[in-house]
Amino acid sequence: MSDGGTARASAFERGEARKAAEGLGHLSGFGNEHSSEAVPGALPEGRNSPQRAPLGLYAEQLSGTAFTEPRAHNRRSWLYRIRPSAAHPAFTRTGNGAIRSAPFNQTVPDPNRLRWSPLPAPAEGTDFLAGLWTLGGNGDVAQRAGMAVHLYHANASMDRVFSDADGELLIVPEEGGLVLRTEFGLLHVEPGHIALIPRGVRFRVELLDDVARGYVCENYGAAFRLPDLGPIGANGLANARDFRAPVAAYEDVEGPVEVVNKFCGNLWSATYDHSPLDVVAWHGNHVPYAYDLRRFNVMGTISYDHPDPSVFTVLTAPSDTPGLAGVDFVVFAPRWLVGEDTFRPPYFHRNVMSEYMGLIEGAYDAKAEGFVPGGGSLHNMMSAHGPDRETFEKASAAELRPQKIDDGLAFMFETRWPVSLTPQAARAEHLQQRYDDVWQGLERHFRTM
Ligand SMILES: [Fe+2]
Repeated sequence: MSDGGTARASAFERGEARKAAEGLGHLSGFGNEHSSEAVPGALPEGRNSPQRAPLGLYAEQLSGTAFTEPRAHNRRSWLYRIRPSAAHPAFTRTGNGAIRSAPFNQTVPDPNRLRWSPLPAPAEGTDFLAGLWTLGGNGDVAQRAGMAVHLYHANASMDRVFSDADGELLIVPEEGGLVLRTEFGLLHVEPGHIALIPRGVRFRVELLDDVARGYVCENYGAAFRLPDLGPIGANGLANARDFRAPVAAYEDVEGPVEVVNKFCGNLWSATYDHSPLDVVAWHGNHVPYAYDLRRFNVMGTISYDHPDPSVFTVLTAPSDTPGLAGVDFVVFAPRWLVGEDTFRPPYFHRNVMSEYMGLIEGAYDAKAEGFVPGGGSLHNMMSAHGPDRETFEKASAAELRPQKIDDGLAFMFETRWPVSLTPQAARAEHLQQRYDDVWQGLERHFRTM
């Protein structure tokens, strides 16, 4: 299926693919120096670029940060491959499909609270790349600042290979398992997991189910990292050891392979005479990851009030200003609520940061209806939002026993700049027209005595 054959797999093939995916080995840890070789002896010892690399391989460095950035966040990997990446023909422009990039200046920035239903089903034979649909974003792709919110809806595996020079891709599956066949090896993710593909890393998305649907944050800025823990201590939130990096696995495929490269907002295509997923060994820290969000160690109050949702940050992509993220990835995972004399759902708020929220499964505790898996909401800078009327009434009267929130998995891309919409998102049929109504009927309760 992955070597240029049909992208539509039979149920049997899908079953076999899932079994293989579930048995994949991995390396443990985030940001550390990993190394892996698919063939014993393929990885050079004691140096990166020997005069002749082992097994006739080519040595190549892939850097994700400037060479001179501080060691603590310098990212690079060394790849030992059958052919160097330089061995390719010229790229030519190809259609961008529904993918758009910053600057997003085709619509007037909208202060309204907005909500979308899930993306409609795609045409037959839509792969992950063709199924990507950009909602909006901010920053400037050529300045390596800002982010884009994409959704995807696919029903076919990719035969082609994709890489994104514009940013890192945080993939959040909501429906359907995926195998990400990357230069570094294979990653398996299911709904409830995330995958992180670093800038420039080539990969192919293969479906383990008939349909795959989810969300993508394209981070143009500094790479996602684990947040500092401060007084929380040395453990907690997303623990580094729960991140899975792939073990080396390579394709030795001769013959035409289409490689699509996203560069400064456009897709460019070239037909190689071999698969570029031909890395036999590698070492470094600029690597893809997968992470199961159910492993997130949720922190919260054990007295009163609940902390700001920054305590739910899985990964943060810092800006040049300390504490101000280009984008944070935040998860609302199953947790106990025990706050005394506390309004327990998310409080009403207006924030300087802008929030795109999605739902992976179940329900979200601030919205009784309308916010469904695969859909999403956008609360831009200073827009007033919070629990809907029904949630407010219920939570204000609830008996405050310890309560487990365990029927939903929601997330947020929280970003420093407002998210401007693409025209296709602003005019989408699945943009809900009466979202404001959820805050109608919040009654006046004020009394002076
Ligand atoms: Fe919010």
